[in-house]
Amino acid sequence: MTSVFFMPTKVVSGAGALQVLGRAAGELGMTRVLVVSDPIISRQVYYADALSLLEASGLNLLRFEDCEVDARVRQIDAQGERVRRENIDGVISIGGGSVMCAGKGIAIVATNGTSLRACSGVANFKNRPLPMIMVPTTAGSGSEVSQWTVVKDDDHHDKLVCGGPLSFPNVAILDPAVLASLPPSVAAATGVDALTHALEAFTSGASSPITDGLALEAIRQLAGGLRSSVCAVSEEAARTAAIVAASMANMACGNARLGHAHTLSLPLESLLDLPHTLGVGVLMPHVLAFNLTVLPDKAIRVAEALGVRLPGDASLAAAIQASVRALRELYIDIGFPLSWTEAQVPHDRLREMAERAVPGLYAGSEGLARLREAEIGDGTVIESFAPRRMTVRQAESIFRVCLADPI
Ligand SMILES: [Fe+2]
Repeated sequence: MTSVFFMPTKVVSGAGALQVLGRAAGELGMTRVLVVSDPIISRQVYYADALSLLEASGLNLLRFEDCEVDARVRQIDAQGERVRRENIDGVISIGGGSVMCAGKGIAIVATNGTSLRACSGVANFKNRPLPMIMVPTTAGSGSEVSQWTVVKDDDHHDKLVCGGPLSFPNVAILDPAVLASLPPSVAAATGVDALTHALEAFTSGASSPITDGLALEAIRQLAGGLRSSVCAVSEEAARTAAIVAASMANMACGNARLGHAHTLSLPLESLLDLPHTLGVGVLMPHVLAFNLTVLPDKAIRVAEALGVRLPGDASLAAAIQASVRALRELYIDIGFPLSWTEAQVPHDRLREMAERAVPGLYAGSEGLARLREAEIGDGTVIESFAPRRMTVRQAESIFRVCLADPI
């Protein structure tokens, strides 16, 4: 069986990496750029420093600093139109996952002259997006090395996934200094998201030796270092390891694809406004236990990467149990929730959420339209790259456990 690994983004990482920003923009031929950010990031000292660096390099700056908690189709479409009107030739995103998703969406819309909704799905746009530089300010989404943008559409009450080989950012700049001012709750939530990317990539049915290497090392770094990078932000080495591991996790899942945690979380995010990190993070231990039952070799390697010492004769069930326990202990130590509340995910919507997950993560708006016509029953399989088939009924059971009990 053949597999392809593709990740064309240039990655500059380490203390002081932000200093290359102006030069990187110049090398991409940017002269007049849109800087994309949000109201919190745009008040940070490093953000002002970044703008100064760009201006000192002779770039003409326009700004969009109103990104919301989720990237929004309406904002992206409006900014894409502004980019065309103002003859902007590059996009620089400085922020977390939503800011980077917004920047990517704007770069796609700007050159394709349509709404992002029309571009949703896999490689569903023709023109190469504008050159993009991404400066992540969390160690989390990994969007800086990803072709995908995940965007909320308020008009249709859903979340769209859009991307293709043309939409990788050109440059990612990973500077651990940006993590120093991150609140511990945000560092924990985004760190858990990165860990889910690595775990889903490693257990994916589309994984390869290359993605396995990246994913396993990311699991090791995040499981071993998240406590320090979240609880003791002064530790620069821990922050550097976390921000690099988050990118590695996304290089892995960008090629091996994501599984049930992200697939089941999508309707909760679209319809119940559950934050992405809370959706995937709470689902992950249960989804991991579900999938590892068909991956006996990988179950041992996951446990080891999570820091578990297994006896030589450990059974598959013991290895899975130990991994789930290790994840649970990590969540408790960094202050990440083990379950959802009834207010976040009401019991009486669980079946509906399981049914809405059926088209999978990469279906685009056409897949969502098909869902409305499909006949769905207990045995309908959720579309996913995960190694084990999951039915609507099984998804509903997993939702129920996430709501009722801690792991
Ligand atoms: Fe994620």
